Amino acid sequence: MTKVLVTGAAGFIGFHVAKSLLERGDIVVGFDNMNSYYSVKLKESRLEILSKYSNFHFYNLDISNTDIVEKAWAKEKPITKVINLAAQAGVRYSIQDPYPYVTSNLMGFTVILERCRRQPDFKHLVYASTSSIYGTNKDLPFSEEQKTDSPISFYAATKKANELMAQSYYHLYNFPITGLRLFTVYGPWGRPDMSIFKFTKAILNNEPIDVFNNGQMARDFTYIDDIVQGTLAALEKPPVNTTNLNHPIYNLGNKSRESLLTFIEVLEKIIGKKAIKNFLPLQDGDILETQSDIRKAQNALGYNPQTPITEGITRFVEWYKSYY
Ligand SMILES: NC(=O)c1ccc[n+]([C@@H]2O[C@H](COP(=O)([O-])OP(=O)(O)OC[C@H]3O[C@@H](n4cnc5c(N)ncnc54)[C@H](O)[C@@H]3O)[C@@H](O)[C@H]2O)c1
Repeated sequence: MTKVLVTGAAGFIGFHVAKSLLERGDIVVGFDNMNSYYSVKLKESRLEILSKYSNFHFYNLDISNTDIVEKAWAKEKPITKVINLAAQAGVRYSIQDPYPYVTSNLMGFTVILERCRRQPDFKHLVYASTSSIYGTNKDLPFSEEQKTDSPISFYAATKKANELMAQSYYHLYNFPITGLRLFTVYGPWGRPDMSIFKFTKAILNNEPIDVFNNGQMARDFTYIDDIVQGTLAALEKPPVNTTNLNHPIYNLGNKSRESLLTFIEVLEKIIGKKAIKNFLPLQDGDILETQSDIRKAQNALGYNPQTPITEGITRFVEWYKSYY
């Protein structure tokens, strides 16, 4: 039976990835430190669902703690497939408090890399990067070949560092690694610090929403089920020839570009209520527009995002109302 370690299993994406693996019968080892960056209760609710599966083994631990990771790994030995989703996420918070990004994204990822490379017969490490690393690139859609060495937030800098760290391990130790640049992921059980969550909450409570850069922004919103499909497809396709090449990095997006104002309009229609908009200037760290070129993932992984935003937002709002 396949065993997969999913770090950040109590998080938004980790939860969905873990659930999908459990449903197909894999053993999932979940690591998460249950930190309070956002509602711990929401993380616990996700874990409650995962814990119903007897093939789920959860460890409340910090991936930046070498000894503790070592102990859990020894208990679950052999772990030969890893999906690393544990990280301090959020562009804006990284400007307010950079330290958790160093601990989780740099130290934490180092511990995972180090553990993987010492595992005999290790099969594949898949880790999350982000569309934020495209920074101020103007050429839409963003393709993997574009330069990504001018991050405009500390979050993006740590994610770019992850890609470089992974590359050095790939070169030095020659084990399969794949990086995924995820584009604005949304859906049921989503993160409370993300716009769809904040907007839905505010609109339902008749509170104003903050619309940055006067709404002149656009995102490639990608539905969670599509991201899960792409992540699992990547896991199944470890790079074969690992010598003298860079490890594969794929964009996982929806290849569309929705303006923030359109996104809000769709949300208003689905909720059946107008938003009270508080127009504000652009925030430090925020990218103006994103859109993914996904041809590389389509060709290599059969990645095939299916969910238009109207459908995805409807499912999010339904979940939000039923959960709260
Ligand atoms: N959601 C998005 O739109 C998006 C976009 C691009 C990239 N990503 C990346 O995808 C991954 C998952 O993001 P998410 O949206 O699910 O975020 P999330 O915050 O919901 O999930 C991350 C989980 O990791 C855990 N965690 C953080 N630091 C840890 C540590 N040191 N040890 C153990 N657990 C720790 C948190 O408690 C949390 O449950 C992250 O790497 C994020 O940077 C997300």
